[in-house]
Amino acid sequence: MCGIVGFVGSEQAAPILLDGLRRLEYRGYDSSGIAVCGDCELRVKKVRGRLDVLSELTHQGADLPGTLGIGHTRWATHGEPNDVNAHPHVSSSGRIAVVHNGIIENYMELKNQLIQKGYTFRSETDTEVVAQLLDYYYDQCGDFFEAVMCMLNAVDGAYALGIVCADYPDRMYAARKDAPLLLGYGEGGNYIASDVTALIRYTRDIAYMDDGELAILSAGGIRIYDRQMRPVEKEHHHVDWEIDAAEKGGYAHFMLKEIMEQPRAIRDATAARIQNGRVVFSDLNMTPEQIRAIGKIYIVACGSSYHVGVVGKYNLERMLRRNVEVCLASEFRYSDPIVGEGDLVIVISQSGETLDTMAALREAKKRGARILSIVNVVGSSIARESDDVLYTWAGPEIAVATTKAYSTQMALLNLLGVYFGDIMGTVDYETYTDMVRGIQALPEQMEEILLRREEIHTLAQECAHHEDVFFIGRNLDYALSLEGSLKLKEISYIHSEAYASGELKHGTISLIEDGTLVIALSLYDPLFDKAMSNVVEVQARGARVLALTIDRRAAAMAERVPMVLPIPETEPMLQPQLGVVPLQLLAYYIALERGCDIDKPRNLAKSVTVE
Ligand code: F6R
Repeated sequence: MCGIVGFVGSEQAAPILLDGLRRLEYRGYDSSGIAVCGDCELRVKKVRGRLDVLSELTHQGADLPGTLGIGHTRWATHGEPNDVNAHPHVSSSGRIAVVHNGIIENYMELKNQLIQKGYTFRSETDTEVVAQLLDYYYDQCGDFFEAVMCMLNAVDGAYALGIVCADYPDRMYAARKDAPLLLGYGEGGNYIASDVTALIRYTRDIAYMDDGELAILSAGGIRIYDRQMRPVEKEHHHVDWEIDAAEKGGYAHFMLKEIMEQPRAIRDATAARIQNGRVVFSDLNMTPEQIRAIGKIYIVACGSSYHVGVVGKYNLERMLRRNVEVCLASEFRYSDPIVGEGDLVIVISQSGETLDTMAALREAKKRGARILSIVNVVGSSIARESDDVLYTWAGPEIAVATTKAYSTQMALLNLLGVYFGDIMGTVDYETYTDMVRGIQALPEQMEEILLRREEIHTLAQECAHHEDVFFIGRNLDYALSLEGSLKLKEISYIHSEAYASGELKHGTISLIEDGTLVIALSLYDPLFDKAMSNVVEVQARGARVLALTIDRRAAAMAERVPMVLPIPETEPMLQPQLGVVPLQLLAYYIALERGCDIDKPRNLAKSVTVE
């Protein structure tokens, strides 16, 4: 999604902006630009394409002297990706520049009003309206601060805004509503950014802006105001992520680095939450009485986080003996959900900024439900609006395709099931201890799989030429196949679908023909025989099968199937935690074989902050 960086201080702004934007590249973008104020003049350069183009065009920023500036990487929402629609947008007078993430919902109405007042627009974006409105109000009242206030009162929608005006070359304005924006306190100046990754090279002292807040930054400090223009004291956070953690650490791609980090990530997410064999959630504010009194349980999320929810539905229902609804956030929010006081909505999100998930959270909250979120990014919007937050502590995830966040989300959901089940009296001692021991053993078992990655690479070479792939499985294997299929399609661009094996015969099996690749998941051991009969069924129609099963079943599977990928066995409910690793590696190596842009797949963004 779009990225914002801004700087005001004693150093040249342009190189800092370009460097910050580079660290935000992973969010996905189609164009970029910077605006710098120097000698009471505003200089702007923006261009479609990779950041390298902008960097070259500005001679690494040297063409834009000045110590105040804003930068942006754009992911198109209004108007196609091109130089004109790229940010920053500049007002007609040429004195005001704006970068923006989010969507100004009433921009058409405002644009028409401004056109009637004689303004002309260059771009198709909603953002240009902000620049022109500021121009208009500044012209009217002669005070830029007041102009910013009037503009904020006039616009509806979601925004993170960075604003500069050539008449005030020593200050930057920042405003936020429903889009992430944070403030960085540095030695030689102060910063804004949409994501902490852009700033860690310059400062680790940050504050998260809240909805409705306006900040005025200068070299010497940052003043923050709430909606009523009352000064606000913000809590400062120290970011302890190492710069290395946000870089590739020797791997060819962030995705591979993050796959390899999973044993560490699972350990981080779970170790502190298991003490002397007992699950301890010191970060959960719910009392045992509140847990026992939970009414309905919903899990709400998007994409891979939703797939974690599908696994969670099977496991929570098994452990809690009650219905669990798993919903796509984008559907939940408009479904007039039957949710209210006493119900628990578990919201899952890596970024904590996914707009659909955020909207679903707000809908559920409005109706009185309690919100427990499982989130990776500390201080993100979803985390801040939840009643309880369980952080996954997976560290920054840079590759667009999620891996370690998926695994840690699932580990926390499993731990939560054990914890709730114990309190509700629905998990017996044996299941409790087996699950806890199983979770503790996951990192080592994952390492075993990761050590065999070249074997998976070889299989990937044999599969990379297929253009249609079906993932099949039953029960937890079906839940996992959803993620296996998404991983493959999003980074390799191979058409792939996930099916509950038993459902194939109701239509889809007609697509299976000679040579169709079917990836059959047979990890959920209670249903091994059923899985086997589905393998036979597709083979009879000519399918080429690659089967994923547990070590103990490998020989039996190999009697029928030429390509078998065995993995270590764990508790049946935990098996997807291990099963996802070879599926991630398979997708990774297939995409590698096909020469795809693995970390930044086409049309995708890391943090989806639009509807
Ligand atoms: C796929 C992927 C996406 C995200 C989805 C939700 O690899 O990463 O499907 O899972 O966009 O994002 P979060 O978890 O940030 O809410």
